[in-house]
Amino acid sequence: MGCCIVRNLTLTLLLSLATLASGHCRGFEDSLAQRVRACTACHGEQGRAGPDGYYPRLAGKPAGYLYNQLQNFRSQRRHYALMEGLIEPLSDAYLVDIAQHFAALDLPYAEPLPSTASASVLARGEALATRGDPGQGIPACRQCHGTALTGVLPSTPGLLGLPRDYLTAQLGGWKTGQRRSQTPDCMAQIARRLANTDVNAVTAWLSAQRVPQPAHPARTRPPLPPGASAIQCGSAPLGDSAAVTTKTVPAASASVLPAGAPIVARGAYLARIGNCALCHTAPGGDSYGGGRSIATPFGAVVSSNITPDDNFGIGLWSSQDFWNALHHGVSRDGRWLNPAFPYTSFTHITRADSDALYAYLRSVTRSNHAPGIHHLRWPYGTQWALGVWRTLFFRAADAPPDGLAPDADPLQRGAYLVEGLGHCRECHAARNALGGRRQDGAALGSTLAGSPWYAPSLHDPAQGSVAQWPLRDITALLTRGVSAQASVSGPMAEVVLHGTQYLSDDDALAMARYLQSLPRASSAPPTPAAPDADAMAAWSAQGKELYEHHCADCHGSTGQGEPGAYPALARNRAVTLANSNNLVLTVLYGGFAPATTSHPRPFGMPPFVLQLSEREVAQVLSYIRSAWGNAAPPVSEFDVDRVRSLRSR
Ligand code: HEC
Ligand code: HEC
Ligand code: HEC
Ligand code: HEC
Ligand code: HEC
Repeated sequence: MGCCIVRNLTLTLLLSLATLASGHCRGFEDSLAQRVRACTACHGEQGRAGPDGYYPRLAGKPAGYLYNQLQNFRSQRRHYALMEGLIEPLSDAYLVDIAQHFAALDLPYAEPLPSTASASVLARGEALATRGDPGQGIPACRQCHGTALTGVLPSTPGLLGLPRDYLTAQLGGWKTGQRRSQTPDCMAQIARRLANTDVNAVTAWLSAQRVPQPAHPARTRPPLPPGASAIQCGSAPLGDSAAVTTKTVPAASASVLPAGAPIVARGAYLARIGNCALCHTAPGGDSYGGGRSIATPFGAVVSSNITPDDNFGIGLWSSQDFWNALHHGVSRDGRWLNPAFPYTSFTHITRADSDALYAYLRSVTRSNHAPGIHHLRWPYGTQWALGVWRTLFFRAADAPPDGLAPDADPLQRGAYLVEGLGHCRECHAARNALGGRRQDGAALGSTLAGSPWYAPSLHDPAQGSVAQWPLRDITALLTRGVSAQASVSGPMAEVVLHGTQYLSDDDALAMARYLQSLPRASSAPPTPAAPDADAMAAWSAQGKELYEHHCADCHGSTGQGEPGAYPALARNRAVTLANSNNLVLTVLYGGFAPATTSHPRPFGMPPFVLQLSEREVAQVLSYIRSAWGNAAPPVSEFDVDRVRSLRSR
């Protein structure tokens, strides 16, 4: 009861009351368990393992092991698209917390199913697990997984209590290269030495063993048998989370910067705001080593290696060559660059800032890898097609004044950051069929190239305009990823995670002022074809039922949300936005707000793609778009299908 009154108070009051009235509705408890409910949706209540054995148990596994796996998914050594997407906006520090949370759960294991394997198969399995097969170069599993096979701290998992299908799938994955671990990848070596009959035997025996109580991982491995040589296993540094708060961007720490080089430090800052590392670092690849594939409507463009390597990077480039790339979109060899490199915005960068970026990039670690080649459909990759494109849509900016130092007039500085280095319009401006920016479309947002995410117009109050927001909410959105008005998700979460969270206070304020000052433009409200009233009522009634079953627990029975944790859906413009792509993506694939320094442990929304049909997603979205004072047109099954197929292309 009381909490419903609390909700209507202003945020400041609420914050001060929060300590007094520490109880929330519905027994909401602000805990890590609550924050990771998006994970337990698949991994089972408290990470105990899902009902069908397909989703691995997380509870009680060594934290170092769990963290290594999260890094493996992130670096594409292991694959599961739904998880890769979910952990994308999370910092390494948060992943460590999550790993430790699940590792600390001490939950009983189920009794093993009786084995159907023959006695000789089980005997072979037991031999492999406890003694190995020195003739085949196979060490005992126990050697690393612990005498009781319950794992060894910090990063070797136990092998008991896991379903046989899961064990078989993992060993098969290592054999075929589908699953990889940090190098040296000891399990890949071992799995390749196991014959298929051995995999069969060892998994049959392991899955038939009762898990001893307590099942804690051991502290040390058993001693090596005489004459055996140890196989080394790789691992990510778990204790080092402070040094690795973001995933790909190298910290601009003192160790990277030569002493007495303020220009390098400034370049490092600018590189963050321009998000250079995000595009120029492949998953699991070297920072700034290029090779990241960027989807465009015309095919995939691969980013360049911009480390100071002479052969593959920009080691031989002068600061003038570098300026030519940013300002004119021309490479050192005179080649016109593809506008997936956002030089249509970067052309506004000043020469002084270009030189600082250049100085910084010369200080990063060299990567001696070729980035790979573009896969563009003919004729889009040709120089003449780029020439035509440039004639139509690109004009290098007039030499921008160098006076746009951080102490410039805030509005001008804000314009410089938003239109230039921050390249916000590369996503937020409407485009024509050839990928050029439309000049007439201030009120039109844009569906991103190569993904169904919709970037709302920054001019339209019904979309992404922040003209009505207090400045502190705008700066909070840019630097924390969450504000009293909204939170960011999808590609915008990446912009905040790798870029704008690092804005200095002055620059954040300058950007906010400029965004607030953008002229208003409104698109005509969509006029839906008047739907059949009876059909709509039935559709919406089903939507309501689905909402109460799957969503109300977090978002509240009247869409009121849970302040600071779950966004309100009532009177939320992200819910009523005419383009429903982002809603469909959120419900199908879930997501977290970015884990930023000032908002380090965001709450998660679970993916529903495995639970709800396309029809049900359309129904529940139509319901939330029309309930509690929201009044937006319904979402059709076709809309859901279109977004889903665009995303999985
Ligand atoms: C849509 C279902 C789904 C969701 C949601 C999900 N996972 Fe997973 N997770 C899986 C599946 C399936 C695997 C096994 C993939 C494989 O076989 O490689 C897995 C594997 C893992 C592993 C490796 C386990 C092991 O023993 O090797 C970890 C760790 C993990 N998930 C953590 C998380 C965390 C943390 C979250 C929340 C941020 C999460 N998962 C959300 C389905 C999911
Ligand atoms: C040299 C040490 C070593 C030996 C010997 C070894 N393992 Fe492993 N095993 C590991 C490590 C380390 C991991 C964690 C890999 C990772 O981080 O991805 C692992 C992981 C696994 C996993 C994945 C568990 C999960 O929850 O996903 C399976 C299955 C496995 N090992 C089976 C075996 C079997 C069967 C044997 C014996 C034939 C064996 N291992 C012998 C070190 C070893
Ligand atoms: C949205 C993705 C994206 C962002 C952000 C981005 N780049 Fe790039 N960049 C690319 C792509 C793609 C190419 C390759 C274009 C081509 O080969 O035609 C490229 C090419 C370049 C080149 C030319 C390299 C060569 O060999 O010709 C330079 C220099 C460069 N980027 C620097 C930067 C800097 C500095 C930043 C940050 C201020 C940055 N980029 C941000 C995508 C990006
Ligand atoms: C890679 C594409 C991309 C870039 C670059 C980008 N945005 Fe976004 N932005 C999006 C998408 C997609 C959304 C919608 C999802 C959301 O609301 O978080 C969005 C949402 C927003 C919103 C609305 C938030 C809300 O919920 O009301 C604002 C404001 C915004 N962006 C500002 C910016 C600014 C400022 C920049 C430049 C620093 C920028 N964006 C750069 C893709 C982008
Ligand atoms: C475990 C709690 C939880 C459940 C259950 C849940 N959500 Fe969410 N939802 C969240 C969180 C947390 C966010 C914010 C995610 C972010 O910032 O990226 C969110 C975001 C959203 C958004 C985007 C709001 C915005 O302002 O951008 C929509 C729409 C949404 N949820 C709808 C639903 C629907 C529909 C269901 C049921 C099918 C549902 N949610 C179930 C936790 C939940």
